[in-house]
Amino acid sequence: MSASSYPQNRNRVTTLTLQRKKEQGQPITILTAYEYATALAIDRAGLDSILVGDSLGMVVLGYETTLPVTMDDMIHHCKAVSRGAQYALLIGDMPFMSYQASVEEAVRNAGRFLQEGGMDAIKLEGGRERLPAIEAIVGAGIPVQGHLGLTPQSVHQLGGFRAQGKTAPAARRLVEDAMALQEAGCFSLVLETIPARLARLVSERLKIPTIGIGAGAGCDGQVLVTHDLLGLFDRFTPRFVKKYADLHNEMAQAFAAFKADIENGVFPAEEHSLDMPDEEWETLMEELDQE
Ligand code: KIV
Repeated sequence: MSASSYPQNRNRVTTLTLQRKKEQGQPITILTAYEYATALAIDRAGLDSILVGDSLGMVVLGYETTLPVTMDDMIHHCKAVSRGAQYALLIGDMPFMSYQASVEEAVRNAGRFLQEGGMDAIKLEGGRERLPAIEAIVGAGIPVQGHLGLTPQSVHQLGGFRAQGKTAPAARRLVEDAMALQEAGCFSLVLETIPARLARLVSERLKIPTIGIGAGAGCDGQVLVTHDLLGLFDRFTPRFVKKYADLHNEMAQAFAAFKADIENGVFPAEEHSLDMPDEEWETLMEELDQE
């Protein structure tokens, strides 16, 4: 897509836009971003929403899990994303321990995403145990996106990054949690790494849009971690990811070419260099000669 063919004169996407898309059977498109340039590109490509995910911890900050990510990390990156995106609905991901300890802390931290981070909504992980926090945040006028299935902040409780909802009792619990989150006022629900037919069932039962990641084609929308889609995160790629580029290798090749050009005297060439007017140069030389 060339810059001139980017979608123009779009309306800002809101939670109502996502709801309307579900009702009209139009798929919802979301990607993660953590900084300005990527947010700008995603927005120009016309996606509905940008999630500033706490996947930040793994794909940008290099942690093994999302657990070390702090509120200050999230707010810092949300600010950069919000400067890059004009149209997309911006969702900030509440990090581990920013909403679990008390309802009051959950509301205050959710508020920071809108007040300081420039976000339009927040996302948080968990089922029925999160209802008091979700109700209080929604009650404060902050749109909440839920997140069920593989919830990475519970990685130690889940025994690793493993698919969820694969047994009938686990699947039933997930359906009940989804209904409860909708009832509590969530505007949307992320379903991560669960069987495709379970995700389709939940999507059919809920009025609010579901957003799948590793949950098959039956969801109302899809989200991927941008670093996975671009092939930027080399450590591992989940099976459900479709790679649209191989930027890690392209970057490494570009960096090696830069190094070789310098070592071989090819860069900088004349076209990469500045000159000064001849008279100025001559004046300088005369002055230096007289000293
Ligand atoms: O943190 C994140 O990027 C997420 C998505 C995987 C949904 O929660």
